[in-house]
Amino acid sequence: MTRRLWIAVALVAGLAFGGGLSAQQAPLKSDRGDQRIDEINLPPEVLRQEVPAGGFGRAYRQAPPLIPHRIDGYQITKDNNQCMSCHDWPQNARVGAPKVSETHYRDRDGNPIDRVAGTRWFCTSCHVPQLNARELVKNRFEDATQIR
Ligand code: HEC
Ligand code: HEC
Repeated sequence: MTRRLWIAVALVAGLAFGGGLSAQQAPLKSDRGDQRIDEINLPPEVLRQEVPAGGFGRAYRQAPPLIPHRIDGYQITKDNNQCMSCHDWPQNARVGAPKVSETHYRDRDGNPIDRVAGTRWFCTSCHVPQLNARELVKNRFEDATQIR
């Protein structure tokens, strides 16, 4: 398609879309909720990260443990993983951090390797901190010890 044709298509599509919206009178939703402008709105909920001494219990035997400390200061980039400055052997002993699981030092064929596997590099795809946030959807989750 030529450039000119593209512009024509975009204009027609824009007209059709814009026309549809005004016909339906889509209601505007305010971030303030239903409060009138002269009412004082409630402060947003303050969420705190949970930092239980001794860590969180695991939901089931193979579960990746939850992170019991703040992590906003620790970067994980392609070349650098600050989690490993505390969690890798041997420096883990110095700071009293649990050593990264041995399962993280195996290549994709299961052979032991001396540095953390690429498949385990981005720790936070499995290990996450917890906030005291209200659940978005009610659920009746029970961990493996509760359903025995
Ligand atoms: C400054 C050192 C330090 C850094 C950096 C650090 N941790 Fe930790 N981590 C600890 C210590 C110490 C503990 C033991 C519990 C505690 O004292 O909070 C711990 C506990 C954990 C646990 C719980 C382990 C268990 O068996 O319950 C996980 C998971 C964890 N950290 C993941 C991470 C991840 C992921 C990062 C990077 C985003 C990270 N940590 C960065 C020191 C550190
Ligand atoms: C693909 C998911 C995954 C990734 C990525 C991952 N982990 Fe884990 N991790 C687990 C699971 C599952 C366990 C528990 C079972 C086991 O030991 O393998 C675990 C266990 C641990 C433990 C507890 C070890 C113990 O003996 O109690 C620590 C500490 C830990 N991981 C740190 C890390 C750090 C740091 C990173 C990033 C370098 C990381 N993990 C990346 C899934 C993952």
